[in-house]
Amino acid sequence: MAELASVPNVHRDDIEDILIDADRLESRLVELAGRIDEDYAGREVLLVGVLKGAFFVMADLARRLTIRSQVDFMACSSYGSATSSSGVVRILKDLDTDIEGRDVLIVEDIVDSGLTLDYLMKNLRSRRPASLEILSLLTKPTRREVDLPIRYVGFEVPDVFVVGYGLDYAENYRGLPCIATLKPEVYGG
Ligand code: IMP
Ligand code: MG
Repeated sequence: MAELASVPNVHRDDIEDILIDADRLESRLVELAGRIDEDYAGREVLLVGVLKGAFFVMADLARRLTIRSQVDFMACSSYGSATSSSGVVRILKDLDTDIEGRDVLIVEDIVDSGLTLDYLMKNLRSRRPASLEILSLLTKPTRREVDLPIRYVGFEVPDVFVVGYGLDYAENYRGLPCIATLKPEVYGG
């Protein structure tokens, strides 16, 4: 695993496998930004990042767009266990912006059961945006519990817990430049 050289020493021993390296992440985001540029040509888009996991995707996507864009963030907590959500969502930080009549693109790190985003979509739709779409860097299709229209998907991943590039395990590993899996013993196994 040559890419392990890009992982800070302190985390290197915890990593089992690198699923998506930094180069692939970058080139996929360039592609997605190109599609968004075309789809929203002549319009401007409000990117709504879901904290905390989406902060890398947001930064790397926003800087690639050539159309006019603004950014805003939301934070929600979903009640559930450490590694799966219940669909009961509480908004911890709401948007600063009124989205009525705006073209809104939600920017997510990963869609797992889909329950969190399903709630967010309903909540944001009630504010009457002109359009509301989803971009998610990762999706785990085999875990989906609700049907969600995800307009832009970076990568499909299998049903394994992944960290890095914004995604955490117990708030750690968000800063890894790649998407990786952890050794079982890291989970206290
Ligand atoms: P959902 O409501 O089940 O779709 O949960 C989505 C949220 O769970 C994501 O935004 C992540 O915060 C978290 N999550 C789901 N799968 C993973 C994973 O493999 N690694 C890290 N976080 C995950
Ligand atoms: Mg998230």
